[in-house]
Amino acid sequence: MSAEALQKLSILVLHGPNLNMLGRREPGIYGSLTLAEINSLLEREGEKLQAKVSSFQSNHEGALVDAIQEAMDVHHGILINAAAYTHTSVAIRDALLAVKLPIVEVHLSNIYQREAFRHHSYIADVALGQISGFGGESYRLGLQGLVNYLRKNS
Ligand code: DQA
Repeated sequence: MSAEALQKLSILVLHGPNLNMLGRREPGIYGSLTLAEINSLLEREGEKLQAKVSSFQSNHEGALVDAIQEAMDVHHGILINAAAYTHTSVAIRDALLAVKLPIVEVHLSNIYQREAFRHHSYIADVALGQISGFGGESYRLGLQGLVNYLRKNS
């Protein structure tokens, strides 16, 4: 791949509801990093991987659907923590299917060690893979996996 192509990867990071409260929200489960700290960690990791990282958070399902639709033809892949919508949203799943972009799903907590209603994800089977349980590190690992996949397959 040419140096020019290497520069061109653009990744959208989507954060779902209540993730704007990270740092103050149930730190025993979600850790002490704020969303701003996670976003800047991802930007730095993106620089190392020569990928541009843009982040968006919303508490609203429709706003997340809009952001996914707008990613088509703009970004090469999506890293998503849909938070509670992971377990409920057919609309987010359908939007991800519609744009046909490579998706990696991430969660700070290990959703399989928690309540039964968190064990099902509407995103998992339309994603390349899922990383769950490593706190803020889940995002970094997810970004690395997504960029590596895109480098090999685009
Ligand atoms: C979460 C797990 C979800 O079950 C929960 O609703 C969240 C955060 C996580 O990152 O661990 O809001 O996606």
